[in-house]
Amino acid sequence: MTTRYITTPIYYLNAAPHLGHVYTTVAGDVLARFWRLHGAKVKFLTGTDEHGQKIAQAAEALGKDPKVHVDEMAEVFRRMTKDIGATPDVFIRTTEERHYKAASALWGRLIESGDIYLGSYSGWYAVRDEAYYDESEIVDGKAPTGAPVEFMEEPSYFFRLSKWENALLKYYEDFPQAIAPLSRHNEVISFIKGGLKDLSISRTNFTWGVPVPGDKDHVMYVWMDALTNYITALGYPDSDTENFKDFWPESIHLMGKDILRFHAIYWPAFLMAAKLQPPKRIFAHGWWTANGQKMSKSLGNVVDPFKLIETYGLDQLRYFLMREVPFGQDGDFSNAAMISRINSNLANDLGNLVQRVLSFVAKNAGARIPTPGDFTDEDREMLAASAQLHDILIEDMNQQLLHKYCEHIGDVVVKANRYIDQQRPWSLKKTGRPEDEKHMETILYVLLETIRHVGIYYQPVMPETMGRLLDQLGQDLRTFEDLKTPLKSGITLPAPEPLFPRIETEAA
Ligand code: MSP
Repeated sequence: MTTRYITTPIYYLNAAPHLGHVYTTVAGDVLARFWRLHGAKVKFLTGTDEHGQKIAQAAEALGKDPKVHVDEMAEVFRRMTKDIGATPDVFIRTTEERHYKAASALWGRLIESGDIYLGSYSGWYAVRDEAYYDESEIVDGKAPTGAPVEFMEEPSYFFRLSKWENALLKYYEDFPQAIAPLSRHNEVISFIKGGLKDLSISRTNFTWGVPVPGDKDHVMYVWMDALTNYITALGYPDSDTENFKDFWPESIHLMGKDILRFHAIYWPAFLMAAKLQPPKRIFAHGWWTANGQKMSKSLGNVVDPFKLIETYGLDQLRYFLMREVPFGQDGDFSNAAMISRINSNLANDLGNLVQRVLSFVAKNAGARIPTPGDFTDEDREMLAASAQLHDILIEDMNQQLLHKYCEHIGDVVVKANRYIDQQRPWSLKKTGRPEDEKHMETILYVLLETIRHVGIYYQPVMPETMGRLLDQLGQDLRTFEDLKTPLKSGITLPAPEPLFPRIETEAA
């Protein structure tokens, strides 16, 4: 059986959810919904990363106990997940008991394998990134990300990352598809080739973290704690269960490019040291800018995804995020781009197709799915376009090419609009000849069958609207398997209703 374990990063609770969080969660949700419709066994994980200095400081600034703060903020992120229509199977929090258990167990394994030793760290740390930086990486007194750094000197446990250099290189050479896109694979390889230093994995100057087993002066480095979440959710340290074996290492870790290194270097090394398989697939997506500029609070140009949902609609936002930017590349948000996508792809192409066909059927075919006559070459070609989608879309999703997924369905919509213009079913209605009437019905059947395919395949991206579309087509059977049976004739259709209102520019 096909299994898919899809994960988003677990999000820091220092501030409110933003477009970056929404983007990855929607992407993960689209993949999860797709594989469920395919009949796969799916686990889709998202959640919250609740420890570390950054969150301790955020709580302190609010005058709150960190636990009180994360309990409140975790609810905000849970609500975000719901508000964007995401359907995780697991929402994990790193302050849960099960996670302490898993993180401590992993630590124990690394002690046993001789991969952890006590030493002392001195160097630069950026709380904002929760990351260590090398002297050579510091630019004008700041981290390469622009985050402020502080010099740190403290006793610390280290993970023998250097020992795993060759094993990591070999793994990525044997499985280059483990990191996508390819440019990111290359980036990771050259980083490893540049030499890996042992990693400081504990801190002593604050206490908001998972305690290091056997040493109450230390808490775990937040990334070591956080990365473990992916196996906590599978029941680690019990790895002899169906849950664990089904989903590990079948993981697809989605994340932004800025946190690739943690996932593609530290995480697989921890796993190898613990004698577990590295994750199958790590996909780093790009970053969104707003009107060509980096989003930042100081510039005041941070895009609020919840305002976008209010203005344009949830499915419209989900579609835009998936379709506008090739998954893996950086992209730019602007209202103009969003309006243009909605108006051209959704209102004009898809909305009009559905509206034209359904109102024509309502007026001229007794509001029922007609029985087709013999198919012409053109009819067959149209039917083939949607029948071929299945394999194309599986391939798109196996590669996480979410934009291609939308594009390939969109191509069929464009083709269907062309087909209707060329076939002119309205002209066949007028002749009064029975064979013309039958041909008209055949054309309508082909169009309805095409729309059924489009509606079913677009469900992962636009679940609510496609649900309404399939209601209008009188279809209760909505999985990919159901597409193997041809559209049934004779079903009575309800009165058509518009799916995607055009956005008038002034309104936006
Ligand atoms: N807690 C860590 C992840 C631990 S996973 C084991 C973390 N959390 S975060 O809240 O900072 O998550 C940020 C996520 O949002 C990252 O994937 C990051 O790439 C993404 N984005 C932040 N700003 C973004 C954009 N402007 N555009 C797209 N994604 C961006 O990191």
